[in-house]
Amino acid sequence: MTIAHPIPQISPTCFDEVIQRHGTHCVKWDMMEKLYGVPAQTGIAMWVADMEFRPPACVQQAVEGMAAHGVYGYYGDDAEYLAAIRWWMANRHDWEVPAEAIFTTHGLVNGTAMCVDSFTQPGDAVVLMTPVYHAFARVIKAAGRDVIECKLRNDAGRYMLDISGWDEQITPRTRMMILCSPHNPGGRVWSRDELRAIADFCKRHDLILVSDEIHHDLVFPGQHHTVMPLAAPDVVDRLVMMTATTKTFNIAGSHSGNVIILDPALRARFAARMNAMGISPNSFGLFMATAAYSAEGAAWVDALMAYLEGNRRLFDDGVNAIPGLRSMPLEATYLAWVDFADTGMDSADFIARVQTDAQIVANHGATFGAGGESFLRFNLAAPREQVIDAVARLQKAFADLQ
Ligand SMILES: Cc1ncc(COP(=O)(O)O)c(C=O)c1O
Repeated sequence: MTIAHPIPQISPTCFDEVIQRHGTHCVKWDMMEKLYGVPAQTGIAMWVADMEFRPPACVQQAVEGMAAHGVYGYYGDDAEYLAAIRWWMANRHDWEVPAEAIFTTHGLVNGTAMCVDSFTQPGDAVVLMTPVYHAFARVIKAAGRDVIECKLRNDAGRYMLDISGWDEQITPRTRMMILCSPHNPGGRVWSRDELRAIADFCKRHDLILVSDEIHHDLVFPGQHHTVMPLAAPDVVDRLVMMTATTKTFNIAGSHSGNVIILDPALRARFAARMNAMGISPNSFGLFMATAAYSAEGAAWVDALMAYLEGNRRLFDDGVNAIPGLRSMPLEATYLAWVDFADTGMDSADFIARVQTDAQIVANHGATFGAGGESFLRFNLAAPREQVIDAVARLQKAFADLQ
């Protein structure tokens, strides 16, 4: 497949615009006072993983087209949507996906929950590589399954697998592993060898491998994300791969994601549960995703990552200049993961400085599971002036350490 249209120029300055979101029912700004005691008027919301940017114009136009038509009925005929996914995965990730392997769920937390429901039983256990995206443990536990926390090794500020230590944690009731690739938090892009080792671990313990690749497009220049089916083709009989447009294009409110299952037997089990749960697609999500997976969308993502690279450098330079704070060098994602361990403070102390003194809301590391306790996660996908402001506030809040 080749790109059929000329690629439009996207100006990086489009990400500089400050867009007022407070008062629009967005969780990031409109829930920060209630949950963290930081008012949106004085605070900076750097927690929830959505961006302060509009999506590319092609996505906006798709929604405007729906609005102009003005009839919002059920979605049908997904051929164009599936073709867009297949085009994107082939062009951006070198992967040819068969259309029949693709399911559409109401986002990937929903996709994860559907996998837990389809492939495990209450009382079974699911492996997570912690610290990891907090909603995984939430849905696993809510479904009456246990979480096995296999800790990543923090090697001088870079997460590494520690698989030999994980083998002995596996119980006879362990049925599944959920991988986050690239990893949130910490932003690791797992290498082919690391993905291979994870696949072997799942084979060794007869686990279903759910590979959540929602951050697959948010990879910094010089890094390369490998989709799990290419890294370990021999595990497709136990593999569920998940992707979405929502994180990449900042359209998470459209709540749609793709669960991709190559193996027909696994697919039949998943299809049966989708049917039992009555899940059918959200038309807004599919219209937006079809528009996003295009040449214009691709150019926008490239411009976005160049902009985020600037934010990341600025934030890391400013934060790493504060003695005791260390920001992990991100290979992917816009979610800076800052370790406060060397300040010697306990989490209540450094959280108070960030929330009360600096008036910044960041995600608390402990919610990401074992190994996250001394961290906070800061969302850098914002106009640069906001990141500059955040760095200045943090430097002031920790000025006594300088
Ligand atoms: C790894 C991962 N999976 C899933 C999600 C959320 O997915 P959705 O909004 O499609 O439910 C996030 C959000 O940050 C995430 O980081």
